[in-house]
Amino acid sequence: MLVSLQPVVLATAVATLLASRVAAIPKVTRTGRYLYQEDGTRFYIRGIAYQEQGEVVESDDNEFLEPSTFIDPLAIPAACTRDVEYLTQANINTIRVYSVNSTLNHDSCMKTFSDAGIYTIIDLALPLNGSIARDAPSWSTNLLNQYLNTIDVFSKYDNVLAYNVGNEVVLGDSTQLAPYVKAAARDVKAYLKSKSSDVLVGYAAINGASTWRNVLADYLSCGSDATAIDLYGLNDYSWCGDSSFQSSYAGTTSQFADYNVVAYFSEFGCISSPPRLWTEAAALLSSDMSSVWSGGIAFSYFPAASAAGQFGMVTVSTDGNTITTSSDWDRLVTQYGGVSPPNSPAQSSASASTYGTCPSATTDFLASNTLPPTPNESACNCLENALSCQFTPQTSNYSVVAGELINTGCSLLGESGGSCTEIGGDGQTGVYGRLSGCDPIVKLSFVMSSYYEANGKQATACDFAGNGTVNAASQASAAPAASSCIASPSATFVPSAPATTAGGSASTSTRASGGSNGNGGSSSGNGNGAASTNALAGIAIMGVVALASAAWTLV
Ligand SMILES: *[C@@H]1O[C@H](CO)[C@@H](O)[C@H](O)[C@H]1NC(C)=O
Ligand SMILES: *[C@@H]1O[C@H](CO)[C@@H](O)[C@H](O)[C@H]1NC(C)=O
Ligand SMILES: *[C@@H]1O[C@H](CO)[C@@H](O)[C@H](O)[C@H]1NC(C)=O
Ligand SMILES: *[C@@H]1O[C@H](CO)[C@@H](O)[C@H](O)[C@H]1NC(C)=O
Ligand SMILES: *[C@@H]1O[C@H](CO)[C@@H](O)[C@H](O)[C@H]1NC(C)=O
Repeated sequence: MLVSLQPVVLATAVATLLASRVAAIPKVTRTGRYLYQEDGTRFYIRGIAYQEQGEVVESDDNEFLEPSTFIDPLAIPAACTRDVEYLTQANINTIRVYSVNSTLNHDSCMKTFSDAGIYTIIDLALPLNGSIARDAPSWSTNLLNQYLNTIDVFSKYDNVLAYNVGNEVVLGDSTQLAPYVKAAARDVKAYLKSKSSDVLVGYAAINGASTWRNVLADYLSCGSDATAIDLYGLNDYSWCGDSSFQSSYAGTTSQFADYNVVAYFSEFGCISSPPRLWTEAAALLSSDMSSVWSGGIAFSYFPAASAAGQFGMVTVSTDGNTITTSSDWDRLVTQYGGVSPPNSPAQSSASASTYGTCPSATTDFLASNTLPPTPNESACNCLENALSCQFTPQTSNYSVVAGELINTGCSLLGESGGSCTEIGGDGQTGVYGRLSGCDPIVKLSFVMSSYYEANGKQATACDFAGNGTVNAASQASAAPAASSCIASPSATFVPSAPATTAGGSASTSTRASGGSNGNGGSSSGNGNGAASTNALAGIAIMGVVALASAAWTLV
């Protein structure tokens, strides 16, 4: 009896083991403008924004109520376990996360979601100084390192679909920022390729007038595979209430009819005509739109308030253990549950992307096609070591101080007959200063050294109220040191992994970009927040706008 039973028990155990072993999540790749799973099935994003909102500080320069801190949702295993069943119930296959902390452990959450067949779209920006700043844009070593650190940490997971290099950085009145976004995409793409990764590189655009919105989309996907984004996201809140494809989406869809890379709605879900019916999800994932769009991200799972109101669809109990869903959520579950977009075109008949000529600037779209260089950390470090007066912050929280001191230093330098041209850049003319790719500490040391040298190297000229220190070992003055260390100021190359994990770089705390959009959606955890200083405003206060602002921001 016992003997004859044993194989049965064993067989049952094996069967149980097999049943409980989850098949690996299929890899999703891009062919031309569409996404496919390994077996050739077309992949559509049935997504939701997944990040609890950080701290929002209300102020005049935070019109969209964007958070200044963030909570990394992929580092809280119990919350991921709590939420995965809700996401699965809603037929959701992708979550978008706006900011992650590369020093934390993400193994548990990433496995929980992978086992449930859920992909992640990860934004690489962080609030405040971790994004391309709208007021004082740069693509510099500190941002590059932050982006690459995050990529390194997430490279071991099988369910990262894409990395976004920015969210709503470029607005209708700041189209000259586009070259910075594209430089970030170029360098991130080159890095991923060097690691043999085919995770997609994306950007999430604010919606706006087609005169610049469509040009930006083309700008980001033009030229060559090496510089083009793979995935264009549009944060589109234009379908409100009981609308229809014809009245809300047909126009935009026809404008993207010939787009060359994958396009999706990186946020959708208008709240201005409650209740939210989520019938736009059914339209987005139907044959009306499937030839252009690959699905989208409903905004938002967690509570997320912006100037336009509350976008969240669930609430979390104070002890964090339980979720209460809203009727909006129930309707989203119904709509996502009913979609079946066409499995076409077949991957074998999908054409590869062609990369057209990049759009020239217009009065509505000012961006140059000359991109900022790849930030070169060893060149910037070489310069920092060579400078005669170095910024020596007295606090680890130096990003605000550095911003203030750059303003002060540039105005003092202007009065001494010098300029801050070399630390600035201009995405409209495509002219970038020699130090444009260096982090704010190096930029500030360069400004301090230039001022110190312009004042006959008097010790007091390197004081900056105790923030500057004379470097006795310095052999050369600032300008020649910069020419020698940063010998190829416009070079582009494949960036290598950051030497150490993060740290070591200050940053100005200017208003970062990211965050939310004019239609009301708020990207929780991303961008902005109330910057306590602002390089441009600071310069204006110092009264040397004409000289210094033209050098520093050239907005
Ligand atoms: C990341 O997490 C660590 C540990 O909690 C914390 O010290 C650090 O400030 C966080 N970094 C960011 C950018 O939030
Ligand atoms: C980066 O800068 C270093 C130091 O000046 C230089 O040796 C190196 O060639 C630069 N790299 C590129 C690709 O320009
Ligand atoms: C950093 O300094 C600024 C102002 O100096 C302050 O508002 C902010 O709270 C500080 N942050 C931390 C984490 O100490
Ligand atoms: C932001 O500033 C903090 C210091 O205030 C610094 O530790 C961090 O590296 C900076 N991040 C970037 C991307 O510059
Ligand atoms: C450094 O500069 C900041 C900003 O101007 C100033 O508030 C501070 O007192 C200075 N000195 C030190 C030691 O931080």
